[in-house]
Formats: sequence, structure tokens, C-alpha cells
Amino acid sequence: MNQDIEKILFTEQQISEICDEMAERINSDYKGKKVVAVCVLKGSIMFFSDLFRRLTVDCSLDFMAASSYGSGTISGGTVKITKDITSDIAGKDVIIVEDILDTGNTLSYIKKYLESYSPASVRICTLLDKPERRTVEVKADYTGKVVGDQFIVGYGLDYDEKYRNLPYIGVLKPEIYIK
Ligand code: IMP
Ligand code: MG
Repeated sequence: MNQDIEKILFTEQQISEICDEMAERINSDYKGKKVVAVCVLKGSIMFFSDLFRRLTVDCSLDFMAASSYGSGTISGGTVKITKDITSDIAGKDVIIVEDILDTGNTLSYIKKYLESYSPASVRICTLLDKPERRTVEVKADYTGKVVGDQFIVGYGLDYDEKYRNLPYIGVLKPEIYIK
């Protein structure tokens, strides 16, 4: 285990099982529909690719990026779209795929933003949810696991761009970010 990790929350095997369950629900809910899965960079790349390859419905993918966090662990209030989708989502069923739903700032903004392109529907799929931290009302339609108010890294999630490569999800030791 990486020495900056306090404890492992979800192993590779557990993550794989979470992805199986989430994909199964999506495949059943979207049968016969055309899905555009939108990966929110950068944190959700691992989850996105594991989930997307489990989809059996008619689907395409796109990417977008937004910034609200900066490089630390405290979320800023304003959200900026730093990379937009490139496909036409009008009339399509969009699923936003996120790594973690924290204050809700980013996802509520991205959802409203994508709705302005007149898709048939927009739903949110998040691997992790920290409901205790919510300041903006937003609910995920698909949630992998609910976690407490801890700083989590690995499997795409970073602290200052580090730890994204860890194959598991773990809690970062507080001494790493409280200085
Ligand atoms: P929100 O706008 O506060 O909901 O923040 C969402 C974004 O903040 C996520 O997409 C992550 O990139 C980042 N984030 C929130 N909590 C954590 C965490 O525990 N570890 C790593 N990144 C996090
Ligand atoms: Mg981040």
C-alpha cells in the first residue's frame, strides 16, 4: 500500500463489483435508448472506462472538464467549464459520469449546462457520494458507494494531481494535506 494512504476503502475487486452493479442498472434502465455517456475529466477516467465497457445499450462517449477545486482539498464556489463536449446531444439520453459528488457545485452546474443543449434526459452517475458535504442541492441517479467526510484518493481521484494511478480507493493521511 502507498505510504500516504491511511486505509483502503475499496479494493480493486470491490470496485469491480460496484461497476458491475451500476452497469447492470443502467443497462436495464436504458434498454432501447441511445445513451451518451459523458466522462467528467480528470477524476472519473478509471471509473468511466470500467463502467463504459460494461454497457450493452446503444452508447457513445464524450468528455468534459470543469474546475471548482483548484489543487487543494477545499472546494471553490464557482465552476468553470474548461473543456466542452464535442458531440450533438440534442434528443439523446445523457449520463454524466463522475468520480465523487462532494459539495454538489460541479455536478449541479454541469447538469444545467448540458440541459441547455436540449437532450432528451440528463442523469448523474457517480462512483462515490459524500452527502454530509453537500451545499448545493443535487442528487445522483446512480451512486456506487456513500462515503464519510474524508479526503479520498486513488482510482482516478487525486490530491494535487497525485495518487490517480492507485488501483484501489483509499483515505489520504491528513498530515499529507494539513500542513
Ligand atoms: P464538488 O463540486 O464539491 O461536488 O466537487 C466535485 C469534485 O471535487 C470531484 O469531481 C473531485 O474532483 C473533487 N473532490 C471532491 N472530494 C474529493 C476527495 O475526497 N478526493 C479527491 N477529489 C475530491
Ligand atoms: Mg480533482
